[in-house]
Parts: sequence; structure tokens; C-alpha cells
Amino acid sequence: MERTLVILKPSAIERSLVGEVVKRIEQKGLIICGMKMMQLDEKILREHYAHLVEKPFFPMLVASMTVCPVIVMCLEGKDVVEVFRSMTGSTNGRKAAPGTLRGDFCVSGQQNIVHASDSVENAKIEIARFFKPDELFDFKPRNIRSIYADDEI
Ligand code: TYD
Repeated sequence: MERTLVILKPSAIERSLVGEVVKRIEQKGLIICGMKMMQLDEKILREHYAHLVEKPFFPMLVASMTVCPVIVMCLEGKDVVEVFRSMTGSTNGRKAAPGTLRGDFCVSGQQNIVHASDSVENAKIEIARFFKPDELFDFKPRNIRSIYADDEI
């Protein structure tokens, strides 16, 4: 099954929204196959946000992402990259649809609670960036047949 990378950003940690995000992930039926707390630094953020390094807001983005530890998660599920991106909502919390994480829990374009991989290809690169192989667990919950039909897994 497909995997995606999620980062619970400092805006989620400091605002005590970790439980809300994890609750939605669990309620949806996504499998958590890795989860840990870590302190990000500019080096890893220059890789992770390589497409934004030249933007004027990049120094502010680094500051906001390093202000406290984050929680990184690896999720597994059918089409999970697309599923979790739609649960995340648009980048700017003021424009994100109600019902999405950003739509329900933030009003900022930068302090926007979560990162979610935007493609299957990027998810593979991002998971390898944040997790060592032995930090990821290849298991299926025993109720997997209540989550998916037989022809979906
Ligand atoms: P981006 O990859 O464009 O969006 P997303 O997180 O929805 O995949 O941007 C990465 C992060 O950079 C975004 O979550 C918050 C920050 N950011 C800003 O601070 N200002 C901006 O104008 C943009 C576009 C992004």
C-alpha cells in the first residue's frame, strides 16, 4: 500500500492540536506506520522546502519550523497521498475548506498545522529524509477487512 509523510508543525505542537490531528487520522482508517518527535534545523528544511528556498518568506518559514520540535508521521493506506492531502486542505488556513485540518484549526498561510506530501514520488523521498528504515513498521491492523473491501487491498 502507498505511504505518505506528515509533519505536525510547531503550530500544532504549541497549540496542543496533536491529539486532534492524530484522532482524525485514526478515525479515517489510515495506518500509522511510523511516528517520532524531532527537532528540525535549517539544513533539513533547505532540502525539504527546496522549491521555496529563494522565496522572500523562506527565513521566516525556517524560523517557524524550528521554534520547537515537530512530530513526523508516516501513514499508510490506499491512495493515502491524495487522501491525506484532501484531509489537510489548501495551504492558507483562511482559504482552506471547513472540514479540513487547515480549514478547521488555523487561519494562517504559514502557521498551518501540518505538512503532507503532495505526490507519491515526493512521499518516498520525504519518508527517507525523515525516517530510518528501522523506524517504520510494516504491519496491517487485524481489522483491515473492516477498513477496506477485499479487492481494495
Ligand atoms: P507549499 O509547498 O507551497 O504548500 P503546502 O504546505 O500546502 O504543500 O509551501 C510549503 C509551506 O511553506 C507552507 O505549508 C507554508 C509555507 N509558505 C509560506 O509561509 N508562505 C507562502 O506564501 C507559501 C506559498 C508557503
